[in-house]
Amino acid sequence: MGQSRTGGDVTPHRLGIAGLGVTSAAYLQTLAASDAVVITAVADLDAARARSVADGLPSARVMTLAELLAADEVDTVLNLTTPASHAEIALGAIAQGKQVYGEKPLAVTLAEGRSILAAATHAGVRVGSAPDTCIPVLVDTHVTGVLEHDSGALSTITMSFDAAATVRSPLEVYGTEGTLAVGDPDTFDAPTGLRRANDGSFHPLDPLAGYVDGTRGIGLVDQIRAPRRTAARANGGLALHVLDVMESLQRAASEGRRVDITTAADRPASVPLTPRAEWLGAVHEGRRV
Ligand SMILES: NC(=O)c1ccc[n+]([C@@H]2O[C@H](COP(=O)([O-])OP(=O)(O)OC[C@H]3O[C@@H](n4cnc5c(N)ncnc54)[C@H](O)[C@@H]3O)[C@@H](O)[C@H]2O)c1
Repeated sequence: MGQSRTGGDVTPHRLGIAGLGVTSAAYLQTLAASDAVVITAVADLDAARARSVADGLPSARVMTLAELLAADEVDTVLNLTTPASHAEIALGAIAQGKQVYGEKPLAVTLAEGRSILAAATHAGVRVGSAPDTCIPVLVDTHVTGVLEHDSGALSTITMSFDAAATVRSPLEVYGTEGTLAVGDPDTFDAPTGLRRANDGSFHPLDPLAGYVDGTRGIGLVDQIRAPRRTAARANGGLALHVLDVMESLQRAASEGRRVDITTAADRPASVPLTPRAEWLGAVHEGRRV
């Protein structure tokens, strides 16, 4: 029990982090500032790396991966290891009755992803995953494709490690009445511009929703804030759908045919415009923990 930044008593959610490489730095920055969570355990194949992270976190103990997965003082396992280990660690955590939140992708194959969701449903625990995603591991470095959505809208996508730069927005939405130019989702709150059919240029739009100053780790905070019995926004079902789209694109290309997507995901509710001080506190949407 501690004092939240807003003054009330809170019981922070206890995290164990597996994998302390490049991506962990941004997570540690977000999570160390939050009253909603306390990092109680860290593990990495490189024990010296784990030790150096724990040295900066008085609340955290260095553990082996097996110890972290079994530890009583861990409520949620944050999985920041490389993709090949995602499924094994998620399944290990779920088997110990722990919640899981992992970096993208949910797993390397759709079959692995399905097994994670099935195990989580059986165990009654939450699974979440960073939703912004790219094609994992050993794959083609330039992928293009056309996605047909349920609504009939079409997305034309280009994903490339081989292009140095582009002058387009990472995401553009075209309609007969206007075009939206959406900023890089990797920066979480990049500005969005709208150019209506009869405008001469794009105009910036004021944000109407979202976690202000959100950064890596905000999906996990959202999962912890989500009322019980409600799906968190960056949930495993959404991550499985993303994995399905990724795998199906590759199948369509290699088999030279259209491939139907077999999974579906509900569009998450938009986030009410939430100031940083609020999401850093241990408050469920609408009620204190
Ligand atoms: N690098 C980026 O810019 C970036 C951005 C967003 C997301 N991601 C995602 O974050 C995840 C991690 O990427 P990264 O760039 O931090 O990788 P990294 O190689 O820098 O770090 C991964 C860490 O996990 C450890 N590890 C691997 N397998 C393990 C296991 N079985 N048990 C314990 N520790 C293990 C490694 O020793 C290493 O320290 C990936 O899923 C990646 O897709 C990376």
